[in-house]
Amino acid sequence: MHQFIEKIKKFESEPFIVNNFLDEEEIKSFQKLYDLLPLEIDNKRQKIIKKKWSIEFNKELQDKYKLKLKKIIGNYEMDNPDTKEGSASLGLFQESYMPVTLHVDTGFDFKKIIYKQTLLPLSDEGETIIFKNRFYGCSTTFSIDPKELSAKGYNKRSSEHLGLYGNNNFDKEIYEKYLTHENINNLKGLEVELIFNWKLGDLLVFDRSNLHCSSKNINKKKLGFTSSTKKK
Ligand SMILES: [Fe+2]
Repeated sequence: MHQFIEKIKKFESEPFIVNNFLDEEEIKSFQKLYDLLPLEIDNKRQKIIKKKWSIEFNKELQDKYKLKLKKIIGNYEMDNPDTKEGSASLGLFQESYMPVTLHVDTGFDFKKIIYKQTLLPLSDEGETIIFKNRFYGCSTTFSIDPKELSAKGYNKRSSEHLGLYGNNNFDKEIYEKYLTHENINNLKGLEVELIFNWKLGDLLVFDRSNLHCSSKNINKKKLGFTSSTKKK
């Protein structure tokens, strides 16, 4: 469990969307950057390609992005895992062909004051579901599927979320519309707080303690960039 939960909670807020966070030029710069970056992970099982924004790439855009983010969320420090070459990173580009399942990105250092997480769509296709429910353990993928629970990955695998939020059945209508890639029993006690319908240039901001996943609705593929932050 995170040690400074009270401090973490002080900086928490409801998730929100910033319209037109980037202009058209800036969107193009991000897409160009993505093409240039070296591959970090090509996960065939989860059908996802990941690239990290190493600080070696496009310093000008880094400064711009960090400053723009500061105007939205105030003081913060970047908190993203290094690249496999050992460079610091501003976050992760993810090109996915399959919906990402329920998880939380709280990190693995319980001494940190984890803060906001951002999602910048670089395709017009995609939906992200943010739940009201929060978790203060380490980065975890929540599942009741034995195969997923025994899978290896960056996140811990667990079903410890069940029982934390009560035993209410998940909303059937929302389930059918967005979440049939999940087992409905894996969503017991969960409540949706925000559904982000991806739009180029917009930015989604939410707390690192918020449970989230993507929706089932991916026609072809989606591309997004996420950053994690902490407070000093
Ligand atoms: Fe995530």
